[in-house]
Parts: sequence; structure tokens; C-alpha cells
Amino acid sequence: MDYQELISEVYEEVNALGLSGKVADYIPELAKVPGDRFGMALVDLKGNVYGAGDYQEPFSIQSISKVFTLTMVFHVFRSKLWSRVNVEPSGNPFNSIAQLEYEQGIPRNPFLNAGALVITDALTSKFENPIQCIREYIDELAGQHCVRINEEVMQSELRHAERNTAMAYFLKAYKNFDNDIQEVVKTYVSHCSIEMCCEELAKSVSFLANDGYSIFANREVLSESHTRRINALMLTCGFYDESGEFAFRVGLPGKSGVGGGVIALMPGKFSIAVWSPELNEKGNSVKAIKALEILTNKLKFSLF
Ligand code: DON
Repeated sequence: MDYQELISEVYEEVNALGLSGKVADYIPELAKVPGDRFGMALVDLKGNVYGAGDYQEPFSIQSISKVFTLTMVFHVFRSKLWSRVNVEPSGNPFNSIAQLEYEQGIPRNPFLNAGALVITDALTSKFENPIQCIREYIDELAGQHCVRINEEVMQSELRHAERNTAMAYFLKAYKNFDNDIQEVVKTYVSHCSIEMCCEELAKSVSFLANDGYSIFANREVLSESHTRRINALMLTCGFYDESGEFAFRVGLPGKSGVGGGVIALMPGKFSIAVWSPELNEKGNSVKAIKALEILTNKLKFSLF
């Protein structure tokens, strides 16, 4: 399979469709990103990079950062974590608070904002300077210094963090939150404000396509069995209330962010990152999802 040809063909085909959506504006700084950006990078398990379009332009990774914090927390908590966060798809939007009450403060899964806040709280209990650890961890996974926190995006989200802060208070009321709320929300917003490009992202998640071994960090990042669990969570919960649709159309484990990025994995073969800032009504990138659908159609295989 000539991956460069594949990526270039998919890129051209998606561009020709003239798809559009809406750039996220609930974080005002994100609304400034030009909607026409579009890039894709595929990294095979030998570390070869195949790219098209704006694949070397950094963007706000937002909820894709939750994959990294979840991976980090696996080392810290192992099975104990699952008494604080469930592993079920929610069928609700990423920022929904409703379910938290009737499920007694246990978020449905670690990718919802509520679940990711619990994960960041757990990292705060473990590490003196959690955001520094998160940055270093991602740099190591990508095999290069690439993580930058966009201060404007971070401050912009912090000024509008009422919902996430309310969620953290709610979790605390159910005794599922140990640390200072402002501190954890700031760390959470900071890891969401990390900027990376498609190439760096595809490299940094490549261990998830390789049974937990990172060829960029030169070490086993996760055990093979934990890797399968993270991939299962991405397949069932990675796109919130559009997770079923993504599994149906694309058939790969993946994770989206409101910056318009999507990462996806073909275990045993490659990792891929796609970025295009215009989102559908579920908060997922219109072009990125279409690109991955066309990609697995052309490959004639997915996870299934
Ligand atoms: O907490 C938030 O709302 C954002 N920092 C991240 C949300 C996000 O990326 C959801 N993904 N599609």
C-alpha cells in the first residue's frame, strides 16, 4: 500500500466535496482559527510520515489531550481508577452534567469533560507539577520537543470555564474530587490548550497502534492489555454522542477535539491525525471524519 498516494487522494477528494461546518466559538480564541485549514498525517509503525495539506501547522488539540492524561493515569491507578470513572458510552454531549447526578458523581467515561476532570484530579494528587509532567510525557511519546501551550486559548477558556468548574464542584459534592477545584480546572484547561500539528500527534499516539510500544520513545509506554483497553474506550466513547456513527462510518478507535483535530489508529498498521477546524453539531470535525471514512473505504479494511 502506497500510503502517500492514499493520503493525497483522500485529501483531494475531501477538498473537492466543499464540506463546511462551524468553528468552535464557546472558547472565543478558537473562533479566530481560519476554517479552511485542512491537514492529514499518517505514521506507519516504522516511523515513516506521510502527509498532505496543513499537516505541519500546529492547532489546539483540546480533548485529544484526554488520551494522554488517561494513558498517564493508568500507571498511577490501574484498576482503582474504575471506581471513580465508568467505561460506558454516554450518548450525551461532551460537556453534559445531567447524568452526573443520577449516577452519583461517577462520570460515564474518561473522555467526557467530567471524566477527564476526574483524571486530571488524580494526576494532581500524584504529581507536584502535573502540567509539566503531561508536557514532558507527550514530548517523549512524539520523540521530539513539540508541546506548546497556547496561553491565549488557555486564558480564553478559563474566562468561560463556568461549566467545567460547576462539574468539578458537583464531583466534589459526591466525594469524587480530591484537590483544589481552581487548580485542577486550570491544569485541565492547560492540557486542552496544547498545540501540536498532525505529524506530531500521529507520532505521539503511534504506541496505541503498536501494542503499547512507542518507537519514538523507544520503550513500552503501556502494557498490551492496557493499550487494548484505551483503544476500546476510544472506539466506544471517543466521539461522545457520535461514537456509534464514527464506528459505523470509519471503524477505527479515535478521539476528537473541538479544535477540529481527530486522531485514529489502525492497530498493527498505523496512526493518523487529521485536522480541519469546522465542526458538526456534535463538536467533531466535518472534514476529518469524512477523510477517515474515505480512507478506510479505500483501504477496504478497518478494525472490522
Ligand atoms: O472542556 C472543554 O470544553 C474543552 N477544553 C475540550 C472539549 C473538547 O475538545 C470536546 N471534543 N470534541
